[in-house]
Amino acid sequence: MDTRPKLHLCQVLVIIALLMWTLITPVTPPTHAQNSYQATLAIRLDQPRWTINRNIYGQFAEHLGRLIYEGIWVGENSPIPNTRGLRNDVLAALKELHVPVLRWPGGCFADEYHWRDGIGPRDKRPRRSNSSWGGVDTNAFGTHEFMDLCEMLGADAYVNGNVGSGSPQEMMEWIEYMTADADSELANLRRRNGRDKPWKVPYFAIGNETWGCGGNMRPEYYADVYRRYATFIKNHSGNRIQKLAVGGYDENYNWTEVLMAQAGKQMDGLSLHYYTLPTGKWDKKGSATQFGENEWHTTLLRTLRMDEFIQRHSAIMDKYDPQKRVGLMVDEWGTWYDSEPGRDMGALYQQNTLRDAIVAGINLNIFHKHADRVKMTNIAQMINVLQAMILTDKGKMVLTPTYYVFRMYRVHQGATLIPVDLSAPEYKLGAASVPSLSVSASRDSAGRLHVSIINLNPNQPAELTTTIWGGAIKSLTGEVLTAPAVNSMNTFDSPNTVKPAPFSRYKLEGSQVSLSIPAKSVVALEFR
Ligand code: AHR
Repeated sequence: MDTRPKLHLCQVLVIIALLMWTLITPVTPPTHAQNSYQATLAIRLDQPRWTINRNIYGQFAEHLGRLIYEGIWVGENSPIPNTRGLRNDVLAALKELHVPVLRWPGGCFADEYHWRDGIGPRDKRPRRSNSSWGGVDTNAFGTHEFMDLCEMLGADAYVNGNVGSGSPQEMMEWIEYMTADADSELANLRRRNGRDKPWKVPYFAIGNETWGCGGNMRPEYYADVYRRYATFIKNHSGNRIQKLAVGGYDENYNWTEVLMAQAGKQMDGLSLHYYTLPTGKWDKKGSATQFGENEWHTTLLRTLRMDEFIQRHSAIMDKYDPQKRVGLMVDEWGTWYDSEPGRDMGALYQQNTLRDAIVAGINLNIFHKHADRVKMTNIAQMINVLQAMILTDKGKMVLTPTYYVFRMYRVHQGATLIPVDLSAPEYKLGAASVPSLSVSASRDSAGRLHVSIINLNPNQPAELTTTIWGGAIKSLTGEVLTAPAVNSMNTFDSPNTVKPAPFSRYKLEGSQVSLSIPAKSVVALEFR
């Protein structure tokens, strides 16, 4: 006997109708994306902390590779549209970032730069070998051009002085040339060179990496050198200079200890340099563009060490300066990869991918967290060098994923840090693990809450249940930066592969928000 169940005609009709319905109904995204992970976030608007110094968003421009020449300076007679020699496309893009402060002329170059080479008629300026990075510097871009750039960007000038091959007198005279309103020989020289009113120079560094390219000094020796040079940094005509000392790098805690003990009272800031290398090895750093999940993970693991370095250098500074008067200035940070084959190795040109965007966001979140001590940072470097905002190829320009993170994050400049409590699983690969999310929040002077969320996991979206404590929320807008692959990038032929898009994967219910954060993304939210 056939015991198989038989379908009646009405059952067949129901099945056909169901099939038809699934075919014509549009697919709606599931509430919880497949393979996602769950996390919770509490935003403590009721516990505001310190101000995020706008200078944390500082930039760095060294005479290196194609940063100054081509990257920003093309000269007044260039076919590339320019304003007084500075290229208009790059200027317009940089203005969008609200650059608060710009460090110049180096880097290692600072300790071989003699400022008198870069003033006066351009056709009379000496051509000098750039012994740090190769090539010949025409000196067409000097003090007046740098100050013009700062004024056009609305950025404060951070001038890095020459200790390695310069004298205290040379440093003292440069400062008088730039800042004095007197009827003195140096102020009058500046006037004859076309600038009547003095400029403001709020930040001046006494050397760069004096433990290395700036003179290979011991910290005890440099502490005395610093004290000597600092004596001759004078304030003229109402200009008030913050004096910055060369600090350590990575785990070089002894340098910080000695400098703080022996010269802490004479300084306003102490620098820290830390570069993120995917492999951690200087002889084979890793590729900017050819990498898989393994190097994605090691790069994020290494960049997260910034948190530990800041904590430990700050702890030393706290011993000597519990009031936190002296700023920790992370005036060089970012990714450093192997130069592309066929490129000039000294030029430090590298492409920039979605991975760099994630690195930028992670570091900015870390700097916010420590903004009670970290008063300035300068990503290395602004154009065509290392982790750049902008790449150029003669007349062409492309904005990098890092540029977009700086644009999305500019709202945090000068805002008040709002603490967050995050509970999320780790993102593991082999035996190593990193947090899967990085979050930072701030409230601006208009009362808007800004929350930046990074999903470090390249495979899984995060379902983030968020509660806002201590404030009523009416609306939410946002942007998301992600891309198809971990190494997606913008090129001159395809400049819009990695670009922010509106963010709509949220549900707002009173003080609770459900957010769906895509894998490998940076999300910037504004709550009103
Ligand atoms: O940013 C490139 C170089 O890195 C700088 O010139 C130097 O200070 C550091 O070693």
